[in-house]
Amino acid sequence: MAFNDIRMDSQWLPFTPNRSFAKDPRIFVAADGMHFTTHDGRQVIDGISSLWCVGAGHNRKPINEAIKKQLDTLDYGTAFSASNDKAFRAADMIAGMAPGDLNKVLFCNSGSEAADTSMKVALAYHRARGEGHRNIFIGRERGYHGVGFGGMSVGGIPANRKVYGTSLLPRVDHLRFIHDPVNHAYIHNQEPVWSEDPLLELENRILPLHDASNIAAVIVEPVAGSAGWYIPPQGYLKRLREICDKHGILLIFDEVITGFGRMGTNFASDYYGVVPDMLNFAKCVTNGVIPLGGVICRQHIYDTMMGAHSNAPEHAVEFFHGYTYSGHPVACAAAIATLDLFQEENLFARAGQMGKVLGDAMHSALKGLPNVVSIRSLGCAAVVELSPIAGLPGKRAFDVFMHCFHRGVLVRNAGENLVFAPPYIVEKSHIDTMVNVLADAISAQ
Ligand SMILES: Cc1ncc(COP(=O)(O)O)c(C=O)c1O
Repeated sequence: MAFNDIRMDSQWLPFTPNRSFAKDPRIFVAADGMHFTTHDGRQVIDGISSLWCVGAGHNRKPINEAIKKQLDTLDYGTAFSASNDKAFRAADMIAGMAPGDLNKVLFCNSGSEAADTSMKVALAYHRARGEGHRNIFIGRERGYHGVGFGGMSVGGIPANRKVYGTSLLPRVDHLRFIHDPVNHAYIHNQEPVWSEDPLLELENRILPLHDASNIAAVIVEPVAGSAGWYIPPQGYLKRLREICDKHGILLIFDEVITGFGRMGTNFASDYYGVVPDMLNFAKCVTNGVIPLGGVICRQHIYDTMMGAHSNAPEHAVEFFHGYTYSGHPVACAAAIATLDLFQEENLFARAGQMGKVLGDAMHSALKGLPNVVSIRSLGCAAVVELSPIAGLPGKRAFDVFMHCFHRGVLVRNAGENLVFAPPYIVEKSHIDTMVNVLADAISAQ
C-alpha cells in the first residue's frame, strides 16, 4: 500500500506526539523475524520487541496456525459463568511457570487491567479477612502500571499523572526512586550495591505515617521498565518481601515487562528469588499478537476469598470483577502456542545470553559519547541515558529515536533514555547494527 493511500485523518495515536508524527509518519505494513517493512518499503529492525511484547520474533508460524485453528473451532464464548478449554490450559501453563504457590490466574486483556485487577483483589482479600480498613497502596516514584485510574495512581511517572489531580486515588504513597545517578551510572549485568538502605524510608517514614495496619499492598516493577530500565539495588526485593510479611501487607510484582523471559528466566521473581503475593503479566505471553493479560495469585489469596463465602449460597459470586474478554479462547490459544514455542526453542535462556552481548556492545560503543550520562543493562534489555537539553526535556532522546528510525532501527525513547529490548531471537549482527546506528545518532546530536 502506498503512503498516499493511507488516510491520516481518523486515528488519534496513543503516547505519541501526533503533530510531529503527521509530518513524518512511521507506518508498518508487514513484519517478519527481527524486521518490519514500512509503508515506503524500508526494512526496520525491531529493537524493542514492539514495546517488549514480541519475544519470539515476528510472524511465528506455530502461533499463527494455533490462532487460525482456534478461530475455526471456537471463536469466542462468554467468560462469565462459563469458560473455554484454552483458557484452562493457558492458566495451567502460566501457573506452572510461576514460582512458589502463585497458581491462580485471573485473566484480563492488558497490563493496565492487570494493575487494577490486582489492586481490587488486594482490597477484596483484606476485607474478606476482616481487615477492610487496609485500603492504602504504596507504589514507587517513576513506576509504571498502565493508564487505568488505579495503576496511574500507584504509578510514579509525573507526565502520566499531572493532569488528573484529585481523580487519582487519594490513599496512595510512593517509595523513593531506585536509581543512584552518581554511583551507579554504569551498570552491566549486576545489582547496584547502595551504601544506604533505600527501604529505610518505608520502615521509618511511610509505614508509621499511615500506620502499617492500614496498608493493603505495595506494588512495584522488579526492574522499572517503562521509565527506562532502572535496576533495583542488591537485596532490595527480598527486603521488601520481608517488610511486607512483617506487617501483613500484600506484595504485588508488576511483571508486565519482566515476565516471560526478559530477564533470562520465567519471571523476575525467579531471577531475584522472591515470590510476591500477586504477579501481573501481559506482554510476551502471546508474543504480542493478541491482547492477553492476567494476575497470578497465591493460593492463600484465592482460599481466603472462597473461604469468606463458605456460608453463602453456592450460586453467589465470590469476586465481582472480570472483563468480557477475560480468557478469550483465541488469545489463550495464542498464549499456549507462544509458551510452547518459548520452551521448544529455549528462548528464555537465549534472552539471557543475548542480553549480555547487547550489554557488552552498548557499554563499549556508547560510554564516553557526548551527553551520555548512564548505561544500564540487565536481562535482554539495555538503556543509554542522555543529559537533557535545557528547557526541552526529552527532545534529545526523541531526536535520536527519529535519527535511528530513518536508518532502519527502532529504539524506544523514554524521557532522556533510549531503550533496546529486542526479541530473544536477536543475533549479534542485529545488535551490532542497532548499537552502531544508535552511536552515530547520539554523536550526531
Ligand atoms: C510494568 C507495566 N505495567 C503495566 C503496563 C500497561 O500495560 P498496557 O499498556 O498493556 O495496559 C505496562 C506497559 O508498558 C508496564 O510496563
